[in-house]
Amino acid sequence: MKMSKDLEKLIIEQIRNELESAYIYLGMSAAMESMAFSGIAKWMRRQAKEEVEHGMKFYDYLVSRGSKVELLPIAQAATDYKSPLNAFEVALNHEKKVTGLIHKMYDLAVSLKDYESQNMLNWFVTEQIEEEGQTQHFVDRLKFAGDDACAVLRIDKEAGKVEG
Ligand code: FEO
Repeated sequence: MKMSKDLEKLIIEQIRNELESAYIYLGMSAAMESMAFSGIAKWMRRQAKEEVEHGMKFYDYLVSRGSKVELLPIAQAATDYKSPLNAFEVALNHEKKVTGLIHKMYDLAVSLKDYESQNMLNWFVTEQIEEEGQTQHFVDRLKFAGDDACAVLRIDKEAGKVEG
């Protein structure tokens, strides 16, 4: 069954949103490199790679449904952040926004009785729990660390060890 034009449009936008997320995380990684937080820079860079994979999942799904892929422009990403906490807070807000977009697509797929799309989107619903959870973890830890440089450096080390 051909996908509805409305859902197709949201998925095309989501390819852009995921690639834009990759760009945002890469900008955060660059900012952390410049502040010598190499562990957090590594974490952000790995996240950027995951976002490209998310974009490609939507891309492949469109192709599999016989829809035409369109690639929308992506915005310039910031490469300046005040601190690791500032970057993680921006990342957390961004992830919450992405969760909302996934839910909006899911709602549409449900109203259209598009079971294939609901099945595909289930993966993203679960993935967003992890994405928000990991980011919240670092926001909480960095808030707790406050101005304690040693504690922030320990968190940086921990971030560098997280495996994807
Ligand atoms: Fe693709 Fe971080 O959500």
